[in-house]
Amino acid sequence: MTDQELIAPELPEQKDPAASNLESGWYKIAKSQDIPSKTAIQVDDFPTQIVVWRGEDAVLRGLDLYCKHMGASLACGEVDENSIRCPFHAWRWGGDGQCDDIPYAKKIPAKATTRSWEVSEDNGMVYVWFDRDQKPADPDGQKFNLR
Ligand code: FES
Repeated sequence: MTDQELIAPELPEQKDPAASNLESGWYKIAKSQDIPSKTAIQVDDFPTQIVVWRGEDAVLRGLDLYCKHMGASLACGEVDENSIRCPFHAWRWGGDGQCDDIPYAKKIPAKATTRSWEVSEDNGMVYVWFDRDQKPADPDGQKFNLR
């Protein structure tokens, strides 16, 4: 089986964040208490749909919502150590966007990557960095209310 065959050619529609009019900055997506350890939430009102979870190390991470294998919602998956495991075929994704485990495969396909989102916490609130051009997060960037 080739890498091409392992990655679904058509996935659920992931909104294009480049089409957003939001300015660059940190967008509040939840309260810290809404995402306890080993839980994941789905965020639909961001410029694209994302999943945000808290790993066993208490760190928050974010990825595009839909699994790059065959499109399952990763928010329905399970936090496994500090990664998130897809509910459909159990591919496990790290916060850096790399698939880091496929239970039934000897090799992880090179194309098994997804977009990651920088997440931070401040004063009991959870923020995700957004920049239309995917510029790296500015730790001192402006904060906005998405919710
Ligand atoms: S849809 Fe197959 S592992 Fe996610």
